[in-house]
Amino acid sequence: PDAPRINPSILSADFVNMQADLERIASADFVHVDVMDNHFVPNLTFGPQMVERVQATSPIPLDVHLMITDPDRWAPGYAEIGAASVTFHLEAATDPVALARRLRDMGARAGVAIKPGTAGEALYDILEEFDQILVMTVEPGFGGQGFMPETMPKLRALVGEARRRGAATWFQVDGGISDSTIAQAAAAGADTFVAGSAVYGADDVEAAIAGLRERARA
Ligand code: DX5
Ligand code: ZN
Repeated sequence: PDAPRINPSILSADFVNMQADLERIASADFVHVDVMDNHFVPNLTFGPQMVERVQATSPIPLDVHLMITDPDRWAPGYAEIGAASVTFHLEAATDPVALARRLRDMGARAGVAIKPGTAGEALYDILEEFDQILVMTVEPGFGGQGFMPETMPKLRALVGEARRRGAATWFQVDGGISDSTIAQAAAAGADTFVAGSAVYGADDVEAAIAGLRERARA
């Protein structure tokens, strides 16, 4: 799908009405699936068994965001389930390049995420290894937090570096994305937008997705 891509996060969905909540976001590009292990982040969601059911049920492809320790060991399992993209945290990976190559070999888009306090420069020399880079715009762990505008210079610099190198990397933002913040992230070069509470907290989910898309274009 072309940019701007809108990826609703099921962290804000109803976990016992997941099928219905997946069907409500059919007009979005990817469903964003937040896997948390209560170790890399202080919160716990679900693992491969649940993600496999989401994969079987979702009308749109899966964008898996792993907030877990030891992604080198666990990330390939999500590619095997059939996730379109698998994103792990740079801070948690032992060998991010080897892991990205393995994910690509398995047919997934390889993604790497960095927390607000992690510098972008560590990725400059390995940009081409990733199909997408996720610049976190909140501390990972919870939905409903406020967007951190101080992450925008880092995003802008990474996007500039990718363009200089002729890389086709997608740039994703995640955390606090709403009607009032999405344009800032788009202006800094983001092309893929994760939104949890802004989508599932809306009365009309379809209209919320369309509204975010419109504001990301402006
Ligand atoms: C936070 C997760 C996000 C979360 C975003 O750690 O990675 O994907 O669902 O939620 P909102 O859009 O409510 O900030
Ligand atoms: Zn996420």
